[in-house]
Amino acid sequence: MTTPSYAIPGSTPPSAAVSAPSPNPADEVDKTAGARSVGEVLEGSQVETVLHELDRNLVGLAPVKARIRDIAALLVIDKLRGNLGLSSQSPSLHMCFSGNPGTGKTTVANRMAQILFRLGFVRKGHLVSVTRDDLVGQYIGHTAPKTKEVLKRAMGGVLFIDEAYYLYRPENERDYGQEAIEILLQVMENQRDDLVVILAGYQDRMDTFFQSNPGMSSRIAHHLDFPDYAVDELLHIAGMTLAQQNYHFGPGAQEAFEAYLGLRIQQPHFANARSVRNALDRARLRQASRLFADRDRILTADDLVTLEASDILASRVFKQT
Ligand SMILES: Nc1ncnc2c1ncn2[C@@H]1O[C@H](COP(=O)(O)OP(=O)(O)OP(=O)(O)O)[C@@H](O)[C@H]1O
Ligand SMILES: [Mg+2]
Repeated sequence: MTTPSYAIPGSTPPSAAVSAPSPNPADEVDKTAGARSVGEVLEGSQVETVLHELDRNLVGLAPVKARIRDIAALLVIDKLRGNLGLSSQSPSLHMCFSGNPGTGKTTVANRMAQILFRLGFVRKGHLVSVTRDDLVGQYIGHTAPKTKEVLKRAMGGVLFIDEAYYLYRPENERDYGQEAIEILLQVMENQRDDLVVILAGYQDRMDTFFQSNPGMSSRIAHHLDFPDYAVDELLHIAGMTLAQQNYHFGPGAQEAFEAYLGLRIQQPHFANARSVRNALDRARLRQASRLFADRDRILTADDLVTLEASDILASRVFKQT
């Protein structure tokens, strides 16, 4: 094999766009090195902790969780094969996460990075999240250095490219996005034992992108579809989010929030779990204003943690109908 012209050398210190992996015992010594059973690999890598967290902390997403388990199984078996000296090419792990905004793609990508790291498929396990603007320059000669800089930061971890289809602009013949795609393709092929690329975005636009970029399509081994959440799942997410923030719904507030969701879903720019979070943030603001208005009242813990129905019903969404 010839030396790849776009080989990206080792690591640079993590920057702001990077999320660090959680500390891992396997960091110092590879505790899966001598493993001969699935149980030994799971114990040595602690990968099940990540899978359990995924199950517990993320509402719904059954098909996504099942696919993640399948991929984890593939990695564990690959590990065992390696331990017995059954050589094989390192598995292709580049993925596509398709789904509407706020369906959990970034969250799951972070977990995927942890799984890959714990099983030793990437050295560092961090996730670098980028969009077209991080990769593509405005002027001739700017794109290659930008893309290579991002790849350098991502080496040893996961490169998450949000709305990846914006890299390809067929309407503009001389678009520099094509240059970024070509560099990515080379690195995805030649350095796949040290970098996993996850492309994310709307399903239909991803499909069109792959049709026009068969080279990219052929390098993506795993396609995961993130479905929209049903109202009861969104309510469940709301309850979990509030509990994490030490708040809860008071009498009638959950029903008000359900009514809110029913209306909000039909409006433009609805973004699933992200919209739930934003709506709860605004409800907390209204709760604070409500409590603030009465400066002589002694506030109990219950007052401070409770979102009342009125805090939800004051939303703009109810006024528009
Ligand atoms: N299944 C879920 N259970 C609980 N919380 C969730 C779930 N899915 C998403 N969230 C929360 O919703 C927010 C948005 O999720 P995330 O950023 O992963 O979605 P996304 O698909 O990447 O969205 P976007 O396309 O807008 O980038 C996060 O705060 C995340 O924790
Ligand atoms: Mg995201």
